[in-house]
Amino acid sequence: MLGKRIYAGWLVVAVAAFSICGAFAADTVKVGLIMTMTGQQTAVGKQVVAAARLYMQQHGTTVAGKKIELIVRDDAGVADNTKRLAQELIVNEKVAFIAGMGLTPLAFAVAPLATEAKVPLIDMVAAASIITEKSPYIVRVSFTLPQHSVAIADWAAKNGSKKALTLVTDYAPGVDAETFFKSRFIEAGGTIVDSLRVPLMAPDFAPFLQRAQDAAPDTIFAFIPAGKAGAFIRQFLERGLDKSGIKLVGVADLTDDDELNGMGDSIIGTVTSGNYSAAHPSAANKAYVEAFKKANNGLRPNFISLGGYDGMHLIYEALKKTKGSVDGDALVNAMKGMAWESPRGPISIDPQTRDIVQNIYIRRVEKVNGQLYNVEFLSYNAMKDPGKAEKK
Ligand code: PHB
Repeated sequence: MLGKRIYAGWLVVAVAAFSICGAFAADTVKVGLIMTMTGQQTAVGKQVVAAARLYMQQHGTTVAGKKIELIVRDDAGVADNTKRLAQELIVNEKVAFIAGMGLTPLAFAVAPLATEAKVPLIDMVAAASIITEKSPYIVRVSFTLPQHSVAIADWAAKNGSKKALTLVTDYAPGVDAETFFKSRFIEAGGTIVDSLRVPLMAPDFAPFLQRAQDAAPDTIFAFIPAGKAGAFIRQFLERGLDKSGIKLVGVADLTDDDELNGMGDSIIGTVTSGNYSAAHPSAANKAYVEAFKKANNGLRPNFISLGGYDGMHLIYEALKKTKGSVDGDALVNAMKGMAWESPRGPISIDPQTRDIVQNIYIRRVEKVNGQLYNVEFLSYNAMKDPGKAEKK
């Protein structure tokens, strides 16, 4: 009898304690941000985390009556780590959102967990077209390689390029870049003389640049992901390829704002496509660049950073729409069709595909006030991911 009473007493205490914890948990919304903070993609992780923190600093940490807690984890760019960290964040930390994904294979590794746990996965970087089809809980705020590649193929074909060679990193986004550059370039009357693929890990560009030179194209189209593109440009310039009469074009990574000033004046005149330039002429961007630099020792924000900044905006606004509910389906529904002005320009989430719709700009590297910038001069407005359109 006494035993029973003690047991019942403990149960009451336990239930009370649980309710207090429950109430606390319900008042806090955790966002698990998994980024690559060490290894080859360190610069990518730094940009995204800095931008996410800046957004929270500017907009406060209370949304729809809930306290937002950002939990940052480093996966070093290794898919097994990303998966394990996502699992821990979902099971132990009970996060309402998983965000980040610095490379496509990392997003592939986490997609099944998002589906199983019904947790929205905010893709802030990874850019292979197919990612959003890997789970109905994935919403992308970065960009897709088909968006960038189609725009630059169209511009190159209309501006004197006739014989192009494609040189891409050998993984899903690279294959997208190659496929979509090729098809648009050929459609516009051009010819592809060769297509080269370089390894993702520890690439040595020398033999590929030699083959590219031997194939004598009038244009090389290159996609090397951010964080590795600087090394490619250095080797390209060291071999004197810029003076060989071969034009170099590419996607945003090639003239990444993060690395541009270190590339030297030989890069001036290079034309690329991109969803963002630190020189984008809008009041919103001017304020963004200033605030980002101020918070990060003068670091210039790059096209990758926008994923962190706009990703937090998407999370905040979705929570406002659900009135603080963290039901995964309600949150994803709230995100569908959302539209806002980002420092990169107007953007929205395609309600059918959960992918980003944005302007893709054509830019030329120029010296402005003694610094190198991608100066935008043409825009392909409100572009959906051509990767999805292709399949319909
Ligand atoms: C990717 O792996 O999807 C990726 C990462 C960084 C980029 C582009 C693509 O700049």
